Amino acid sequence: MWTREALHELIQQRLQGYQFIVASNREPYIHRFVGSRIECMEPASGMVAALDPIMRACGGVWVAHGSGDGDRETVDQYGHVRVPPCNPQYMLRRLWLSKEEEQGYYYGLSNGCLWPLCHVSFTRPVFEEQHWETYRQVNKKFAAAILEEAGDNPTFVFLQDYHLALVPRMLKDSNANLIVAQFWHIPWPNPEIFRAFPWLKELLEGLLGNDLLGFHLRHDCQNFIETVDRSIEARTDHVGFEATRRGKTTLVRPFPISIDFNQHGATAQGEGVERETRVWRRRLDLKDDHLLGIGIDRIDYTKGIPERLRAIDRLLEQYPEYRQRLIFVQIGVPSRLGVAAYRGLDQELDALVAHINRKWGTRAWRPVVFVKHHCSEIQMMALHRLARFCFVSSLHDGMNLVAKEFVASRDDEDGVLILSQFTGAAQELGDALLVNPFAIGPGAHAMRQALTMPREERRRRMQKMRSTVAGSNVYRWAGKFLSALLKFDFAESVVSAAASAW
Ligand code: F6P
Repeated sequence: MWTREALHELIQQRLQGYQFIVASNREPYIHRFVGSRIECMEPASGMVAALDPIMRACGGVWVAHGSGDGDRETVDQYGHVRVPPCNPQYMLRRLWLSKEEEQGYYYGLSNGCLWPLCHVSFTRPVFEEQHWETYRQVNKKFAAAILEEAGDNPTFVFLQDYHLALVPRMLKDSNANLIVAQFWHIPWPNPEIFRAFPWLKELLEGLLGNDLLGFHLRHDCQNFIETVDRSIEARTDHVGFEATRRGKTTLVRPFPISIDFNQHGATAQGEGVERETRVWRRRLDLKDDHLLGIGIDRIDYTKGIPERLRAIDRLLEQYPEYRQRLIFVQIGVPSRLGVAAYRGLDQELDALVAHINRKWGTRAWRPVVFVKHHCSEIQMMALHRLARFCFVSSLHDGMNLVAKEFVASRDDEDGVLILSQFTGAAQELGDALLVNPFAIGPGAHAMRQALTMPREERRRRMQKMRSTVAGSNVYRWAGKFLSALLKFDFAESVVSAAASAW
């Protein structure tokens, strides 16, 4: 079993003398003004949830966009601040973007164009020359900050996601000795979809600067290799998963991302979560005969939130016994409101929730409680533990760590996970109730099944999913990634030995 210590050991042994630099658009800790006080918060990001434990285990520098209004007040002259604030274990290097840069690179190209393209979610991508130009400029800015951090030291740079596709080539062109790898946290669609992207050649050229490029699933890797094959001059190996362009080879591999199962479980069993459970009970006025369902997402059109709400409406229509009994809490963290499609969804959800509550609600009971703000990890764990079921209905999702977090919180081996078959997580969590999120009737039926499932079956399914997530934890993800990068195939036994010697 991979552990924090085993990963640390691997890095000590194999990357000794190397600096470790992670770079992503989203920063792991955001400082914000609350009145005249500055507070530090953690963003709603699966990428951050996965990478932060790795950085805590390995140390190093994380380069990211400083997006909080209190961020500049909390760094030194180099944009550095040590994090986590309560127990600093690594360095965060913030870089600053102007409003125009943020508009073109983040809202425009990354989330108005690459995001809908990669998720094939029936939302039209917007192709704007100016956004691409800004994306290129901001990628240069990231590359410059990384090169500055690396200096002349041997360095391993681990880039995250679709915001930074041009950075690998820029880094390699400046310093061929850097080890550069990237993990693409969202799906990679089939080549037909990417044909529409006007700057595809340059995007691929950028990504092929990587020594290793990781995706969640094998299917994403295949799509990527095929996209390269059809779009640029490169030698591709569809079996060995490699692409060679101008004499430089990029390995392409699947690594399904995960969470720190043990740490998550330990926190979920703690006193803080117990306290928050009482707070939720009071807030929701939860009675013993109430049944709680939950959904936790950023407000994003890929998450299938309207479909989920319509399925709740259908459930209440078809099964009157759940009226006055079922309470569905939807945590929706506002997201990317600079993109029109996100603003539209926000309004659609408000209207839908109001409609369902008007249709079915009574003086004493509201079927849907829409919590439209960021909740702490502890508050979410408390909800996980109170829920009869958690409904993840993404229309398309690279992985979806909410599903794994729900499972990790349930050491009581209870609760049912209803999971979209179009998430990466569905490939590992076959003991969830798998649904097609577009189909409203089957969604309602799955909730009914979750609510009537015998305790023994709930236990059996949850036990299996917990053992899967425990084994495939985030340290395994990082360890496998590094092992592939270093072209060593570390047997699990070697890792266990390293772990016990630690
Ligand atoms: O996992 C994909 C991702 O885009 C991450 O890169 C990101 O941090 C997360 O989703 C949340 O999105 P955002 O950073 O745009 O709020």
